[in-house]
Amino acid sequence: MATHAAIQMVAQRQPLQLAQVPTVEPGDGETLVKVEWVCSTPLDLHQADGGLGTTYPNIVGDSIAGKIMKLGPNVENLKVGDKVFGFGWRSQKERAAQEYATYHQNLLGKIPSGISYQEAVTVPNNFVTVFHALTKDLDLPLPWPQPEQAPERASDPILYGYTNLIGTASKAHHAELKSFDATAVFDYRDPDIVPHIIAAIKPSQTPAIPFILDCIGSKSGSIEPISKIAQAGPTVAVLLPVIVRDSTVEEVPIYDMDPKSHANWAKDVTVRGVRTHFYLQDEFFATHLQPVVMPYMLEHGIVKPNRQRVVQGETFRDRAQNALDILRRKEVSGERLVWRVPDGEE
Ligand SMILES: NC(=O)c1ccc[n+]([C@@H]2O[C@H](COP(=O)([O-])OP(=O)(O)OC[C@H]3O[C@@H](n4cnc5c(N)ncnc54)[C@H](OP(=O)(O)O)[C@@H]3O)[C@@H](O)[C@H]2O)c1
Repeated sequence: MATHAAIQMVAQRQPLQLAQVPTVEPGDGETLVKVEWVCSTPLDLHQADGGLGTTYPNIVGDSIAGKIMKLGPNVENLKVGDKVFGFGWRSQKERAAQEYATYHQNLLGKIPSGISYQEAVTVPNNFVTVFHALTKDLDLPLPWPQPEQAPERASDPILYGYTNLIGTASKAHHAELKSFDATAVFDYRDPDIVPHIIAAIKPSQTPAIPFILDCIGSKSGSIEPISKIAQAGPTVAVLLPVIVRDSTVEEVPIYDMDPKSHANWAKDVTVRGVRTHFYLQDEFFATHLQPVVMPYMLEHGIVKPNRQRVVQGETFRDRAQNALDILRRKEVSGERLVWRVPDGEE
């Protein structure tokens, strides 16, 4: 059986290891992808340090950019040599930090021309999360193709989404969020952020903020402050896990999956935990979100790649370990850690 190199988490908070794993032949509707670039996200740290949803050994990562090497039967819109990007997580063959990954065509989009691998790889995880969270957990339609008319609730104030956007971020990123048309942005480190947001909303409707997307899920950093703002019937969607204590060099993390139990919510607030790994339950998204909508929006500049920081390291394993260490030391701000899988120049 053919094998290839992969980087695995082998036990909680232990160094990552280089392993040889089986190269899985593409089955019905599947492709074999030579992985060129991957990105590291906070979930890698949750899994490596907190064992979140993980059985070890587990190959690192869930987002790839690379080249199609081989097609299984019934692959329709991809061919050998295509440059692709995608988000996959369901089994080891779809994990990211390995030389070859086996991906169903529905989990891949073609990279638009003019977009590099390292730019493209920052997109799929974020993109799928936003579409899933807004449609499934906030019940906000994101129809495709985009209709001529704005969606029904397009001007409702919301923490991230549609046209009336109230965001929170550290000060350094306010100008950038405003450039994405945020109506107002608040510094999440401001101890008076709650009264400042409430004063700025000047509610003309009830609830004043009907839809709130908590993109952080930190018990003290986002969930508790949001619970003070979410009054009179809004829906709050929290990206899981709830981070009760984040992983640091000194401390093991504590996670939970029930955002309702981590704040004193007003009783008419609907609180939901976002689980993007269920996005394939939506029949349309399962077949269109990554193959069709994602490349279109990237090509037309409707979504943009995250800013990237290229993680260096002499070997494949060193780059993976260095990225994980940067996440653990909290040295990431407004950028995605990206790194190359093959050694040497592109
Ligand atoms: N359940 C799901 O489906 C799902 C999907 C995707 C992600 N997630 C989870 O969502 C969390 C964030 O992931 P990510 O990829 O977005 O991480 P990220 O891009 O690294 O964003 C984290 C950054 O958010 C900022 N931040 C922290 N607290 C904030 C607050 N209260 N308000 C505004 N900004 C704040 C910090 O920026 P500064 O450096 O500027 O302070 C921090 O560096 C992770 O726990 C991840 O696992 C869950």
